[in-house]
Amino acid sequence: MLILGIETSCDETAAAVVSDEGRGVARIRSNLVFSQLAEHRPYGGIVPEVAARAHLDRLDGLIARALAEAGVSFGDLSAVAATGGPGLIGGVIVGVMEAKAIALARRLPFLAINHLEAHALTPRLTDDVAFPYLLLLVSGGHCQLLSVEGVGRYRRLGTTLDDAAGEAFDKGAKLLGLGYPGGPAIEAASRAGDASRVALPRPMKGREGCDFSFAGLKTALRERVEAAGAPSDAFRADAAAALQAAIGDCLIDRTENAMAMFRRRHPEGKALVVAGGVAANRALRERLAALASRNEFFFVAPPPALCTDNAAMVAWAGLERLTLGLIDALDFAPRPRWPLDPAAAPAIGAGVKA
Ligand code: KG4
Ligand code: ZN
Repeated sequence: MLILGIETSCDETAAAVVSDEGRGVARIRSNLVFSQLAEHRPYGGIVPEVAARAHLDRLDGLIARALAEAGVSFGDLSAVAATGGPGLIGGVIVGVMEAKAIALARRLPFLAINHLEAHALTPRLTDDVAFPYLLLLVSGGHCQLLSVEGVGRYRRLGTTLDDAAGEAFDKGAKLLGLGYPGGPAIEAASRAGDASRVALPRPMKGREGCDFSFAGLKTALRERVEAAGAPSDAFRADAAAALQAAIGDCLIDRTENAMAMFRRRHPEGKALVVAGGVAANRALRERLAALASRNEFFFVAPPPALCTDNAAMVAWAGLERLTLGLIDALDFAPRPRWPLDPAAAPAIGAGVKA
């Protein structure tokens, strides 16, 4: 089986071809990502309308290149999968319409993929992880701890009450004048910094359950920046290190609680998996690996290029769903919101992230 994947839910336009090599082995035949950073940089963040237009401009060419790099043509495909939500709706519509058109013209099955499910299933593409596993999903729009029990079967254990972890990095970087996207900028700046020089809180740490909150951290950082006056490079490095340490402490504390909750439900579960853009953070990966080994879990983190948004994860989720016969109709309506665990109540103030 050969699947074309399309991702357009945020600010990366992506197309990829993934093949099923049999016996549960998949191969990424091509994986192209066009990042719209240059388009959005002048605005200091993502502008939905600009994103949708950029997807429209790039997607046809990117798909042609993805097929060429994989050495295949439309006629060789078994199915076409596109992110159907959640995300910026203009972009999602561009990708879904493109996938539907290809499916219709080539008489192929069409698969509408939940972007969060694509992140959640990536460790099965890279490391063949068996269900069930505990997933920390940390990106620019999402921060959740999930028990992954099967394709389409997710139980949310905890979520953010306000900002996502990636958003905390992005807003922190903006406050420090380090540019967008914030995660990589904070990580780079923090290497020269001393976290102990800038005191920041650890919201929710030590509390029951495994929900997150990051808004207070951003407010505290703003106060420190204002108190510092015109921030020097040294202050910026210290503040970046402090922010990365504080976000890391919160993620570790909440994940440790989630491990206990997961173990009670699934004594046979053995894996802690991290996915989403923030999972590209080296320091965080090291801390999560240590946490997993302390709790006798094994730790899986996809390579950074498969943690941030890409279409190989969409094609792979398509392959998993196609194998189970979970095909979508061509009247599928793109979904700006699409929770992985529909039974989970929306968190206070976090409806847009669910
Ligand atoms: O999964 P993703 O590519 O897009 C969303 O679905 O949101 O995640 C993007 C987020 C951004 O907030 C970005 O700052 C963060 O992931 N990020 C990082 C790093 N690389 C990307 N955060 C911390 N450290 C990094 N190295
Ligand atoms: Zn994402």
